[in-house]
Parts: sequence; C-alpha cells; structure tokens
Amino acid sequence: MLSKKVEKALNKQIKIEAESSQFYLAMASWSETQGFNGTAAFLYAHSDEERFHMLKLVKFVNERGGHAITPALEQPPKEFNSLNTIFKNLLEHEMAVTQSINEVVDVCLQEKDYTTHNFMQWYVAEQIEEESLARTIMDKINMIGSDKGGLYLFDRDLETMAGSNESVSVAK
Ligand code: FEO
Repeated sequence: MLSKKVEKALNKQIKIEAESSQFYLAMASWSETQGFNGTAAFLYAHSDEERFHMLKLVKFVNERGGHAITPALEQPPKEFNSLNTIFKNLLEHEMAVTQSINEVVDVCLQEKDYTTHNFMQWYVAEQIEEESLARTIMDKINMIGSDKGGLYLFDRDLETMAGSNESVSVAK
C-alpha cells in the first residue's frame, strides 16, 4: 500500500511524463512542418516513449492501492526556430526530469517504501540513457552549426535512430 506522500509524488511524476510526451509531440510536429522528417520520426517515437513512462507509473500506482490521476496539461510551444533550439530544450527538459525522479526516490526513502524505491530504479537508469542521448545529439548539432548539408545528414541519421529505439519497441 502506498503512503499518501508517495502516492502524491508518483502522481506528480505521472504529470511530468505526460508533459514530456506533449512537449516532444509539439517538437515533432514543428520539425515535420519544416521538412525535417527524420527528426520528426525520432521525436514522435520519443513522445510515445514518454507516454509509456507515464503509463508504467499509472499502472504501478493503481496496483499498489493508490489512484493514478490523469493530469491536466498546458499547451506546449508551437514554434521552435531551429533544430538547435529543439535539442537544447530537450536536454534541459530531461535534466529537469532527472531532478524530479530523484525527488520521488527521496520521498520513497523518507517513507521507507522500498518497493516503490526499487520500482523507481528503472527510471533512474532510463534517465542516464536519456540524458546521455540528448547530450550526444546536442554535440552533433553544435558541430554542424548552420551547414545545410550537415543538417540534412543529421536529419537522416535521426530517422535511423528512431527506428532502432529499444525503449519504444518495448512500449508497443
Ligand atoms: Fe520519461 Fe524522458 O523522461
């Protein structure tokens, strides 16, 4: 059974994962309208992945006797200006998500809820991967700068990454 404090922390995390999914969906849509189809495919897949992160929490909360709340979401930005802006936003967002996962883990320890603590380790590991992927992409973008040919190849590379994302295939 979840304590009220842990249930509240998990519901907060449900909202954050849902917001991440919305945010990446908005980025995907903008990229598609700009002709960056590889980037769009990558971001659509990433948005699905965030929805999976949310659902995994929803199911856990309900299985443990709590009530997972479907959150209200704010409209994400419509315009992103450049791929650089997109991936800068994505990296900063993932860093904030890591911070919030750490806060949930902290509540679990305060409440001596070792079951939820154990469950949350999946998210801790996932954040290491997500941050590392976002940093790798950011490094590439910084290297390319505004070189059109470079951006074309980068976009094509992301399409391949979208197709080989393991977490997304697990989610389906
Ligand atoms: Fe669910 Fe990208 O953190």
